[in-house]
Amino acid sequence: MNNNVFKNLSYGVYIVSCKIDGRYTGCTVNSIMQITSSPATIALSVNKQNYTHFCLEEVKHFAVSILSEKSNPLDIGTFGFRSGKDINKFDIIPYEVIDGLPVIKDACAYLICNVINKLDTQTHTIFFAEVSNGDILNDNTPMTYSYYHNVIKGKTPKLAPTFINE
Ligand SMILES: Cc1cc2nc3c(=O)[nH]c(=O)nc-3n(C[C@H](O)[C@H](O)[C@H](O)COP(=O)(O)O)c2cc1C
Repeated sequence: MNNNVFKNLSYGVYIVSCKIDGRYTGCTVNSIMQITSSPATIALSVNKQNYTHFCLEEVKHFAVSILSEKSNPLDIGTFGFRSGKDINKFDIIPYEVIDGLPVIKDACAYLICNVINKLDTQTHTIFFAEVSNGDILNDNTPMTYSYYHNVIKGKTPKLAPTFINE
């Protein structure tokens, strides 16, 4: 099989965040899609080794910051290549609190979600969540995963579902 075929699938770039034990944390994800519109639900795939996986299992309440082409690449790096087990990512990245959850300041939009179901796979859990709130923050163009790779020249870490072992 040609594993490069997966590079032809399209995604956005997001930061999933939550509050656990009085502290904000989260990680970069690409694997979010809308599942239904009424009620509005989304699906999200999270690697079991990510600290965010543990947090979502515990708190079941999270925000999705939708990054734009103008978002600082430092957002993606801080949330995508380091673990909330080791650092306080929100010490470095500006955010505002909406519905008790941290939303990245230079995102172009956000969603507030509650986990309603999940599906186990070998390496990742697919969380299904109902969207309780959301808004557009500015008119910047949402970042696609292909923009992240081709323009920002970003890499894919091992725990992302799209990682290819080359
Ligand atoms: C562009 C990009 C996309 C990513 N997509 C996902 C994803 O969809 N699911 C996932 O579990 N990890 C994904 N990751 C990897 C996590 O963000 C990374 O393992 C992070 O360090 C986990 O942090 P945590 O341990 O604080 O949860 C992605 C990383 C990057 C940079």
